[in-house]
Amino acid sequence: MLCKDELITITDGTVTYGRTESAAIEGVSLTFSRGEFVCVLGKTGAGKSTLIRTLNGLEPLSKGTVSYQNQSYDRLDDEGLRRIRRNMGMIFQQHQLIPRLSVLQNVYTGLFGYHSTFQNVLGLFSKEEKLKAQEVLEQVELLPFQNQRADQLSGGQKQRVGIARALVQSPYVFLGDEPVASLDPGTADRIFLLIKQIHEEQKLLTIVNVHSVKLALRYATRIVALKDGRVVFDDVPEKFTEEIENDLYER
Ligand SMILES: Nc1ncnc2c1ncn2[C@@H]1O[C@H](COP(=O)(O)OP(=O)(O)OP(=O)(O)O)[C@@H](O)[C@H]1O
Ligand SMILES: [Mg+2]
Repeated sequence: MLCKDELITITDGTVTYGRTESAAIEGVSLTFSRGEFVCVLGKTGAGKSTLIRTLNGLEPLSKGTVSYQNQSYDRLDDEGLRRIRRNMGMIFQQHQLIPRLSVLQNVYTGLFGYHSTFQNVLGLFSKEEKLKAQEVLEQVELLPFQNQRADQLSGGQKQRVGIARALVQSPYVFLGDEPVASLDPGTADRIFLLIKQIHEEQKLLTIVNVHSVKLALRYATRIVALKDGRVVFDDVPEKFTEEIENDLYER
C-alpha cells in the first residue's frame, strides 16, 4: 500500500550503459517521501548522476522499476513521463541557462513542460505565468535582475536563477545533480541554505547529489551513499560516521 507521503520508489534498480559489463547502479531499492532532504554521496563514478536521472525518468532502468506515486515509468508513454516530470524541478551543476536571454526569460523556460512547442517558440506566456515567474525571482532575491542577461550574472546568481526556473513549475520534488559543485564554499553553503528554506516552506521532497560531506551533514535529513553503484549507507546524518566516510571515499 502507498503511504500518502511516499513519492518516488525505485525497486531493484539497475542501469547498464551500452555494452559495458559493470552496472552504473545495481540493485538499488529506495523509497523517498515528502519532507525528506536527501543528500546522495559517493566517489566519482559511484552512480549518483545515474540515480538522479532514473528518478526523473531521463534514464530507463535495465532492470527493476521506478515509480512516482505508484505510477511505474515503464508503463508510461512520452506524454505520461512528461506529466510526471512536471512535478520535479531539476537543478543542474552548470545551471544550463540560456546566456543571451534575460533572467525572466530563463525562468520561463521552466514552464516549457506545460506548453506546446509553438507557444514556446513564440514566447506566449500568460499574465499569471509572468507573475509566478516574478514571484519565484523574488524568493531567490533576484527580482531586480529580471531583465538582465543571464551571462552577466555571477555563478551564485546564475544558480539562483536555476533554482527559480525549477521552482516556477510548482514542483513537489527538487532534484539536484551537484547543484553547488562550481561554487566557492561560502556561496555553496548559501545556495544550500536557500534550497533548504524553499524545501521546508513548500514541504518538498529534495534529493541532491553532493561531493561535500560537510554540506550533507549540515542540511540532509537522510544520507544515501553509493559505492560502485550500490547503496552502502541509507540513514540519518548522525549515523554517518568518519569511519563510514573514509571507507566510502577509500581514504
Ligand atoms: N552515458 C554513459 N555511457 C556509458 N557509461 C556511463 C554513462 N554515464 C555514466 N556512465 C558510467 O556509469 C558509472 C556511473 O556514472 P555516474 O555519472 O552516474 O557517476 P557519478 O557518481 O555521478 O560521478 P561524478 O561524481 O563524477 O559525477 C561510471 O562508471 C560512468 O563511467
Ligand atoms: Mg555525477
